[in-house]
Amino acid sequence: MNFERVKLKTLHDKITDPESALQHFYDGAVVGSSGFTKAGDSKVILKALAKDAPRRPIGITLITGASLGHNTDGALAEAGVLKRRMPFQVDTVLRKKINAGEILFIDQNLGETSEMLTDGDIPDIDIAVIEAAFIAEDGGIVPTTSVGNSPIFAKHAKKIIIEINTAVHENVYGIHDIYQLEAYPDRKPIEILKPDDRIGDKAIYVDTSKIVAIVFSDIQDSPADIAEPDEKTTAIADHLIEFLSKEVKEGRLTKSLRPLQAGIGKVANAVMQGLGRGDFEHLTMYSEVLQDSAFDLIDLGKLDFASAASITVSEKCYERVFNNLDQYRDKIVLRPQSISNSPEVIRRLGIIGINTAIEFDIYGNVNSTHISGSQMMNGIGGSGDFARNTHLSIFVTQAASKGDTISHVLPMVSHVDHNEHNVDVVVTDQGYADLRGLAPRERAKLIIEHCAHPDYKADLLDYFNRACEKVGGQTPHLLEEAFAFHARLMKTKTMKKEGEEVLRDVH
Ligand code: COA
Repeated sequence: MNFERVKLKTLHDKITDPESALQHFYDGAVVGSSGFTKAGDSKVILKALAKDAPRRPIGITLITGASLGHNTDGALAEAGVLKRRMPFQVDTVLRKKINAGEILFIDQNLGETSEMLTDGDIPDIDIAVIEAAFIAEDGGIVPTTSVGNSPIFAKHAKKIIIEINTAVHENVYGIHDIYQLEAYPDRKPIEILKPDDRIGDKAIYVDTSKIVAIVFSDIQDSPADIAEPDEKTTAIADHLIEFLSKEVKEGRLTKSLRPLQAGIGKVANAVMQGLGRGDFEHLTMYSEVLQDSAFDLIDLGKLDFASAASITVSEKCYERVFNNLDQYRDKIVLRPQSISNSPEVIRRLGIIGINTAIEFDIYGNVNSTHISGSQMMNGIGGSGDFARNTHLSIFVTQAASKGDTISHVLPMVSHVDHNEHNVDVVVTDQGYADLRGLAPRERAKLIIEHCAHPDYKADLLDYFNRACEKVGGQTPHLLEEAFAFHARLMKTKTMKKEGEEVLRDVH
């Protein structure tokens, strides 16, 4: 064990092994764990809890920053330890159990969890599990590759367990900016006026008498699965660059744009990488997650500064960043997600938010979370925190997928995460539609013409024209047909009408 990583000597007697630390968990406990999009998550305690379940079955509520890595969510779900989970996940096993109704999932705006804990709107944290690089002499807990909700969990928890991860070098000290919001009515303005402003501490400060156990791990974060840009994601990036370049040309933006926020997934990463090809300079980010693309843009000299709640990168990029942290430390900062996703700061900085949709409809409503209306994919993440408050709210998706059997542009979305009022621009590999200042009937024509896949354009236009003719109204819909595309997919495995024709011929 590496006692040097616990510099506050009075805590040395708390150093133990994960199995012994499990004594602090009990049935019904609310556990708050570090971890944000696989970064800085619990590597050993939660896994030990899953392993211990056959011997001592307990059920917990698990709250995190965002998703966990190392299949931890899957192991906990499989072991029956998870009863309730919030606010985000990406695990296939957990997803199945959520969709089977076996685990209750509260899909929450990521900036909201800490507000709810502060206000006492959700049950308080019994045990916090926080990954740290080290505990400083003054008791400061120095986080690793994410901050997420760790400060609020540590503040509220009755007991704290620290996982010191020796795979993370102590030189991460200084890349974090820990600032906690006051409870109402004493809330003060968050004085971040530009992405590189620092307003807090370099470590998390809590009453160290709450630390009941300190365990060690030496395990790197799960790498992000970053798919190389392909034809479709490159086309999406090109259309987005075309739009942003037009904004620059017409004087609404400068070449440094506004601070950028980019969502998760292969599309968002490819889009950010694509910005390196555009004629942009001195870019900044005020985002949630820094993916490989952020570091590529820094290396290209295009990105001056990036603020986020976590660093979630591929294995190759991880080595590049953390073996050369001194090259990057004045260009990045990691904040709590209550700050990275703060509506106040997002609005003040005039952010351009680029998030990914599962599908959007002809009027501009976006579904980011549910497949065919019922099945949870991952969760809303931070997309809602940003979409409502950004200067420009952009949603991207492929026009069609799975051999073009699924159209991502639809008459009506099967679930609404971002409504038409919070969506400014939609982009697919076919083109973009700038919806600003347009009425629903204008938006529909533009979206169908510029964003829909050619195989679905005629059907979408036919739906819209008949809805205008037969029903009319501000936002014309044929309610009996609004979900016909989804229904066809379920029945015939394709949203194309020809699927129904094939079925008719068979019967
Ligand atoms: N029926 C069945 N499958 C459908 C479908 C439908 N009606 N509509 C979409 N899909 C499938 C697609 O075919 C694709 O499947 P695949 O992965 O097997 O190819 C999948 O859903 C969508 O993924 P993809 O298009 O590859 O996008 P992505 O990897 O970029 O992820 C989101 C997209 C929306 C799932 C992801 O960005 C997300 O979880 N967003 C919400 C959280 C968020 O936005 N956070 C932002 C702040 S970090």
